Amino acid sequence: QHILVLHGPNLNLLGMREPEVYGRETLADLDVKLYALAESLAVRVSSFQSNSEGALIDALHNARLTCSGVIINPGAYTHSSYAIRDAIAAINLPTIEVHLSNIHAREAFRSTSLIAPVCVGQIAGLGMIGYELALRALATRLGV
Ligand code: DQA
Repeated sequence: QHILVLHGPNLNLLGMREPEVYGRETLADLDVKLYALAESLAVRVSSFQSNSEGALIDALHNARLTCSGVIINPGAYTHSSYAIRDAIAAINLPTIEVHLSNIHAREAFRSTSLIAPVCVGQIAGLGMIGYELALRALATRLGV
């Protein structure tokens, strides 16, 4: 089974970006953890980061034929992107939304996710472990 992990805008700056909110670990550190877990679960993971809404949508469309599940942190597009929501609905793959921070405990605009209604579930506020939990959940769901 092949799972796409999509990292949205500004997550390339993890480690130096508001470390009091997002921690000091980098996106590369996160990907290392995910690849290691994927190996132990015997699933394949591909990770992709983009700051561009269109590139994230293209990646979702490409996943339609090559992947069996998606983990996505859409960054601030969570709160604004009908287009990413529609792309997730269109590809019909089990998708889990992950946020490093607890979006429900921050500014009011962050507590609304346009993405959550088309996802299997949402994990927020647990830092990088949230991605590992999402990967385990997808693997279980896919019967791996
Ligand atoms: C985030 C939360 C979003 O509100 C924010 O815009 C991000 C990161 C998170 O992982 O906590 O870029 O998705």
